[in-house]
Amino acid sequence: MAQDPSQAVLEALLRQSHGQDLWLVDENISPPAIPALSEMLVVGNRFDRVRALGEHGWNAQFSDFDLSRLESATIDQIFYRVSKEKAVVHHLINESARVLRPGGELILVGEKNDGIKTYARKAQMRLGGERTERKQGNVWTATLIQSEPGEPLDDQHYNDLRALLPTRDDSPGYLTKPGLFGWNKIDRGSAYLIEALPGMLNQALPLHQSTLDLGCGFGYLALNACGKDTELVCTDNNAAALAACRANLEQRGFSNARVIASDAGDCVQGAFDIILCNPPFHAGFSIEGDLTDRFLQQTQRLLKPAGTACFVVNQHIPLERKAHNRFAQVHTHADNGHFKLITLKQPR
Ligand SMILES: C[S@@+](CC[C@H](N)C(=O)[O-])C[C@H]1O[C@@H](n2cnc3c(N)ncnc32)[C@H](O)[C@@H]1O
Repeated sequence: MAQDPSQAVLEALLRQSHGQDLWLVDENISPPAIPALSEMLVVGNRFDRVRALGEHGWNAQFSDFDLSRLESATIDQIFYRVSKEKAVVHHLINESARVLRPGGELILVGEKNDGIKTYARKAQMRLGGERTERKQGNVWTATLIQSEPGEPLDDQHYNDLRALLPTRDDSPGYLTKPGLFGWNKIDRGSAYLIEALPGMLNQALPLHQSTLDLGCGFGYLALNACGKDTELVCTDNNAAALAACRANLEQRGFSNARVIASDAGDCVQGAFDIILCNPPFHAGFSIEGDLTDRFLQQTQRLLKPAGTACFVVNQHIPLERKAHNRFAQVHTHADNGHFKLITLKQPR
């Protein structure tokens, strides 16, 4: 993956950090090339990034950017390379206004296209103090001083789960929240996969075999494909997704299901009859070529010899080509011009 230009700027800033500091980390961050700073607390919402930082000696905590355990007005500096989703950025600016001590600094980094200029202005209104900006290449750094906090920014009630699309019958809607991929809609690719699943597996739903929902989001695939008695594991990298998926499974009485944090399934143990997957191809602002490979590698490891993995991918993802050296059978079941449905069998 090409290094995000904002990361180099951020690393130079981290080197100069001092005091009681906090670094907010999402999927745009890689472990920096500088030694871990023992005083600094790192909070991140992506399991792989937090784990990698921990392995490099950082004091890194994995959560859905839950800063509620930090006391108000205690932090000297907060470093944050802005995220892609507005609600996340607003949530973190609001929380910064709570935890920074008077005179403390929120340091935002990002490019113009990431909305950094707008976020800097909003953060200034929220924190109430001075704003200074600096440009290096395409990367902007904005430093905001905590003074007399103004109105909270609209974070769309970031912490709250809410029901998406109450369904026609009495069943509850899907619990979802900002911070997880496509949180306020049903993914069209996933809906296509569920519609075609009986044909792909040659059996009616719900499934009763052991099933893995790989990259589960709020659990749409598992909730629609599986029954309450299914031996089910759901896994995702994103803390918001894991929280929403757990809540959905609990609400619908899937008491056998387990929800596990992982990078593309790497922490999941066991072997599955069925793997359902709508893999991501974006990691934050970058498009990661090897993300699909990591999903395929773990599918190969976790699929039973007689099992079937059912994938849905965008038209332009060369999943079949990438899958051939890992599975003896790769079959394109259907293609609607936007998405392809692919079954993988006989892991090599
Ligand atoms: C296209 S969405 C599908 C979500 C869900 N299965 C659905 O059908 O609505 C891809 C999911 O993969 C997750 N994801 C992204 N990178 C991941 C990684 N490295 N490991 C595990 N999950 C990841 C995202 O958080 C997101 O929930």
